[in-house]
Amino acid sequence: MSGILSEPLDILGRLLAPEGKQNPYPLYEEMRAHGPVVTIAGVHTFITGYAECAQALREPRLLSTDAAVQDQRLQGWREHSSWRWLTRNMLFSNDPDHDRLRRFFGNAFSARRVAEMRSLVQELAYDAVRHVATLGAGGQVVDLVPEFSFRFPMAVIGRLLGVPEADQLGFREAIGDITSALEPVRDPRELERGDAGMDLLAEYLTTLIARLRETPGPDLTSGWIKALDEGAEITEEELLANFMLLLVAATEAPQDLLSNTVRLALEQPAHAARLRENPAFVESFVKETLRFDPAVQVLNRVASEDLDFFGARVTAHSPVTLLIAAGNRDPRRFDNPLVFDPARPDNQALTFSAGGHYCLGAALACMSAEVVLPLLLRSLPELSLAGDATFRVQVVQRGHEHLPVTTN
Ligand code: HEM
Repeated sequence: MSGILSEPLDILGRLLAPEGKQNPYPLYEEMRAHGPVVTIAGVHTFITGYAECAQALREPRLLSTDAAVQDQRLQGWREHSSWRWLTRNMLFSNDPDHDRLRRFFGNAFSARRVAEMRSLVQELAYDAVRHVATLGAGGQVVDLVPEFSFRFPMAVIGRLLGVPEADQLGFREAIGDITSALEPVRDPRELERGDAGMDLLAEYLTTLIARLRETPGPDLTSGWIKALDEGAEITEEELLANFMLLLVAATEAPQDLLSNTVRLALEQPAHAARLRENPAFVESFVKETLRFDPAVQVLNRVASEDLDFFGARVTAHSPVTLLIAAGNRDPRRFDNPLVFDPARPDNQALTFSAGGHYCLGAALACMSAEVVLPLLLRSLPELSLAGDATFRVQVVQRGHEHLPVTTN
């Protein structure tokens, strides 16, 4: 690296600016030039290294943002329904609550259960591809983000959780609003958008749960309600909070993964051709997309006590930000990390996290993408990008706002 290094605080400022959010990758490299663990203003630790991120995710003294942690971090948060609900879900809990919730909901998404979901996913993938083909039939430009990348994973999780098909697409805006509450917040008033999304979802799901309690279906939620009513160690609020987590987690990040895989395939026609000819290639293609342009870029933890982390002093209650998208491009872990190369061996990105909070839906997300991507490309051999593939202005989760394509 030549020239003068910018100060980490300046790099952070540019990362949080709109241009940085559109393309954060050069800024991660600037941050990395200061080392794998960087402390800003003596109080905020940033991690760019792969091994260091992986270690941080397994460090029990680095906590997820539960209610007690949030009390120290953000005054007034309890007046905001977004974070009141978020801190009741497993992602924003620490043990023993996390362990209890994960055991209750976890079985439903085991490798075996996900393998059993394959035929349902195939059926819904056909529907999703047919929908795109219909919209694009007359040569019209189709925006794949709402019409495919959101629609398909929503159909999958909606069916699994028992959300009626007619209601599913109406949640797109609320789900986007809820993820805005996960962005860095300086003033709690910035949570109002997330609150509105959360209130809407909570109201709808309260009614849905009451209906499924009365008339159970073959869905997962009906099973969880029955277990709760028979005395399982979980509260009604926790059921609702984790239902909302599942609905958001199973749509927002998969939406970004699907848009990114399609864009990367269409940008390099040799990849698209290979995916059409050899569907088995899709597994490594999806893995490399997850590494190279991950839907989740940043994870947050807070130190429970003073600790020494790879030589950096992390004080109790101070934040630790894991730039996992930078870790995915760490040259100490991956050869030529800035190159998109689906043939990469041992390609285990940090994108699904690691340790106790490792993504519960990783197997479902990968299987769904592996089923639908070759189907889309084979069914629509003329599929092409058609205009600006813009990104949302977000830093924690990265994904396309629009992905215009033509199908013939
Ligand atoms: C491309 C798709 C996906 C990505 C990139 C992704 C990413 C992640 C990440 C990074 C975490 C952990 C965050 C942390 O450690 O702080 C996580 C947790 C979680 N994910 Fe996913 N996810 C995806 C799809 C899904 C799907 C399809 C589901 C639904 C079944 C799901 C459900 C969850 C749940 C319930 C947790 C919380 C786990 C816990 O706290 O123990 N995710 N996900």
